[in-house]
Amino acid sequence: MKKSANAPASKTPTTAPRVAVAIMAAGKGTRLKSQLPKVLHEVGGKPLLAHVIAAASSVVPPNDVFAIIGHEAARVRSAVADRGINFVVQEAQRGTGHALMVAQPALSAYDHVIVLSGDAPQITPQTIAHLLNFHLDQQAAMTLLSADLDHPTGYGRVLRKNTRSAEVEAIEVQAIVEERSASPAQKKIHEINSGFYAFAVPQLFSHIGKLSTANPHGEYYLTDMAEILRQARQRVVVWKTENPIEVLGANTRTELSFIDYQMRMRKCHELMSEGVTVYFPATCVIDNDVEIAPDTVIEPFVQILGKSRIGAACRIGSYSVIRDSEIADGVLIRPGCMIEGSRVATSAVLGPYSHLRPGSDIGEGAHVGNFVETKKIKLGKGSKANHLTYLGDAGIGEGVNIGAGTITCNYDGAVKHKTVIEDGAFIGSDSTLVAPVRVGKGAYVGAASCITRDVPEDALAIGRGQQVVKEGWAREKRKPKVGSPRRHGVTEKNNP
Ligand code: UD1
Ligand code: CA
Repeated sequence: MKKSANAPASKTPTTAPRVAVAIMAAGKGTRLKSQLPKVLHEVGGKPLLAHVIAAASSVVPPNDVFAIIGHEAARVRSAVADRGINFVVQEAQRGTGHALMVAQPALSAYDHVIVLSGDAPQITPQTIAHLLNFHLDQQAAMTLLSADLDHPTGYGRVLRKNTRSAEVEAIEVQAIVEERSASPAQKKIHEINSGFYAFAVPQLFSHIGKLSTANPHGEYYLTDMAEILRQARQRVVVWKTENPIEVLGANTRTELSFIDYQMRMRKCHELMSEGVTVYFPATCVIDNDVEIAPDTVIEPFVQILGKSRIGAACRIGSYSVIRDSEIADGVLIRPGCMIEGSRVATSAVLGPYSHLRPGSDIGEGAHVGNFVETKKIKLGKGSKANHLTYLGDAGIGEGVNIGAGTITCNYDGAVKHKTVIEDGAFIGSDSTLVAPVRVGKGAYVGAASCITRDVPEDALAIGRGQQVVKEGWAREKRKPKVGSPRRHGVTEKNNP
C-alpha cells in the first residue's frame, strides 16, 4: 500500500517504530460485586492482569508496558510489582478514553501504542503481534481488533464502511457503537469490538481531546475515537481474529468461570498432547505454569497449583491438591493428599491422606502414609512413616522406621525445636519425641515412649510407666460380693 498523507511520520525509513503497550486496568469491576479489584480476580491460577502482562511482555520489553491502574491502585500494583512494567495512575475512572488521556505523558515518547484490556486474559502474543503488524502495514491511525461472537450482547459493535456493497469486507471502519447506544438493527451485528487496539500515538493524542461524555454512561469512551479519527480523515481499520475466545472479557462471575474453565481445559489438552494422561479433565484444576512430564497419570478431581513440577511416570490420586511443589519421577501419590511447598524424590509413595506442609523434603523411595502430617522435615531415602503421625522440624536419616502414632513435640509454647533421628533408627508406635532431642544411628525407641533425652547410637530407650500385672484381679472383680448381690448391675435407684 502507498504511504498516505495520514500515515504516521516515521523518523527515518529504516528506524523501527517505537511501540508501547498500554493495559487498561483501572476499573472497579462493578458487575463482579467484589471487594477485590476486577483485574485481580484469578483465572488459570493467576490474576487476570498477570495474564495480559505476560502476553504483552512477550511482544515488547516489559519496560515498554504501561498498566493504567486506579481503583485500589496500590493493591493492583503490588500484585504484579515483580513483572518489571510501568504504572500510570488514573485517579478517577471516567472511562476507557479517559484512561488513555491520563497515559498521554507516558506514551508520547512512542510512535505506536497497542491498547489491551486488563480484564481479557486470553489474548496471545501472536494475536498482539498480528494486530501490530496489520496496523503498521495499513499505516493506520487506529486499528481495532474485532471478532465474530454468537452472543455479542454487552460488547461494542463494529460498523464497517460500505459493508452493503462489498463482496470482500471493507476493512475501513465507520464507528464503534456501544451496546447501550446501539439501535435494534445494530444490536444484530455479531462483529464485536474486542477492546484491543493499535493507535499511531501522534494521531491519537492530537484528537483525543474531542471525546465527550455525552453517552448513557457519562464516560469518555475510547471507542468513539474510531469515528473521531475517521471524521478527521485519518485511516481507521479493523482486523478480525479467527479466534474469538481470545477477546472474551471477564466482566461477571459467570464470564470469569467460563474463561477459567477454558484455560483449564486448554492446559489439560496441552498436557495430554505432551504425553500426560488426564482421566477426567473437566474435574481437574491445573494452573498454567505447572509442568508435568510424560506418562504421569492424573486421576479425576486433582488440583495442581502454582509453580508445581511433576516428573515422569507418576500417579496423582483423586482429591489430591499439590501447590508449589516438586515431585520427581515415579512417585505414587494415593488419593486425598495435600502437598504444599514441598519436594518429593523419585519413587516415593504418599497417602492416602498425607499432609505435606511447606518445607517437607521426602527422600527417594520413602513412604508417608495415612493421616501423616509433615512440616519442615527431611525424611531420608527409604524411610517410612506410614500411619497417624506428626513430624515437624525434624531431620530423619535413611532407612528409619517411624511407628504408627509417633509425634515430634517440636513446640514448647514459645519456640520450635528440632528432632534428629539418625539412619536406621526404629521408633516404636505411639512415641513422643520431645525436641530438642536426638535418636542415634540404629537406636530403638520402645513403643509408647516419651523421649526427653538423647538416645545413643544402637541403644534401646524405653520411656514409659512400667507394666504391672495383678494375677486373678479381674476374676475377683467379677465375683458377687456378700450382702450386695447386684453390686455391678443396674438398680431401680441408680437407673434414671
Ligand atoms: C469495552 C468497550 C467495548 C468492547 C469491550 C470489550 C468501551 C467504551 N467499550 O467495554 O466496545 O466491546 O470493552 O471487552 O471502551 N478501564 C479503565 N479506566 C476506566 C474505565 C475502564 O482503566 O476509566 C479499564 C477496565 O478496568 C477494563 C477495561 O478498561 O479492564 C475495559 O473497561 P470495561 O468497563 O470492562 O469496558 P466494557 O464495558 O467491557
Ligand atoms: Ca470489559
